[in-house]
Amino acid sequence: MREELHNLRNEALALIQEAPNSQELESLRIAFLGRQGKINQFLKELKNLPQEEKKQVGQLINEIKTTLEKAINHKSFTPQPAVNQKLDFDPTLPGKKPPQGHLHLVTQAIEEIQRIFTDIGFIRVRYPEVEWDWYPFTSLNMPPGHPARDEWETFFVDAPQDSKYGKMVLTPHTSSGQVREMKRLGKPPIRMINIAKCYRRQQDMTHTVMFHQFEGLLIDKNVNIPQLKGVLDYFAQQFYGPKRITRLRPFHFQFTEPSFEVDINCPLCLGKGCKTCKSGWHELGGAGMVHPNVLKAGGLDPQKYTGFAFGWGVERTYMMRSDIKIDDLRLFYSNDIRFLEQF
Ligand code: DAH
Repeated sequence: MREELHNLRNEALALIQEAPNSQELESLRIAFLGRQGKINQFLKELKNLPQEEKKQVGQLINEIKTTLEKAINHKSFTPQPAVNQKLDFDPTLPGKKPPQGHLHLVTQAIEEIQRIFTDIGFIRVRYPEVEWDWYPFTSLNMPPGHPARDEWETFFVDAPQDSKYGKMVLTPHTSSGQVREMKRLGKPPIRMINIAKCYRRQQDMTHTVMFHQFEGLLIDKNVNIPQLKGVLDYFAQQFYGPKRITRLRPFHFQFTEPSFEVDINCPLCLGKGCKTCKSGWHELGGAGMVHPNVLKAGGLDPQKYTGFAFGWGVERTYMMRSDIKIDDLRLFYSNDIRFLEQF
């Protein structure tokens, strides 16, 4: 019975404390302290107890009674608004939404490109923007002094030169990640998608000094050109739509053999040739089979492994979506909110 009494006291105190208004409090008073209340029921049961317990339990009941009375008498309420108080606003109207930002459209494009390639097993990596000359040039079959370097109009960094890796440069292309990835993994299979910033001395409607590229690299046994074409068509369909395909056009890069320029069919005529595109195709980027010297630079045996690589600009790729009309690449970085808000 003592335990029941203690529980009763705790329960009553908690309810009193939580009572939101005086009506509730009154009904609690009746329930616990009223004539038919719980305390009185315990008092009635007292007579069944042995003589010596009667006194102690009776005392406990009285103590609890006083505690509860005090708790009820001292309870105060924070003033409640009058029930009929007139509201000075319409609570049924929708609220005001605070202005909400979103990711920059280049970040959106990067996330989408990343998802497309990681869905088929490529692994996203990122390599240094400030890089040793060796990675974007020498390791890619462009030794110091080679004329192919001229194309990249590079920013060199005024820093001490390394005896093996050469000068420091702001990397002009994500191809610099190829040999880094070979070295990181040590052996194939290598399935890299390197998306990062690149820098070149250029600034006009379709070029900015800083821009982004994505670079795919796949190396394994028996990798071939049809597989490269398959991956490029898969990308074209995912990114541009189901009717889009790519075309490989012979070209020259130092780090691939054979090398190609990758074109995508025109969204309007799908490759037949129309007034806007003339040839039916638009140029996307570069690709090819990894040059044996590049595999060697990455410590791989070109007799054993082959690979393909491809790479092009994120901003350019995004601008070529037919649902987007951006004709000046510099808009991406001028941070005009009227432009950014449209995406
Ligand atoms: N790095 C080249 C550029 O910036 C693009 C490129 C061409 C990447 C051919 C490749 C490739 O991986 O195989 O113009």
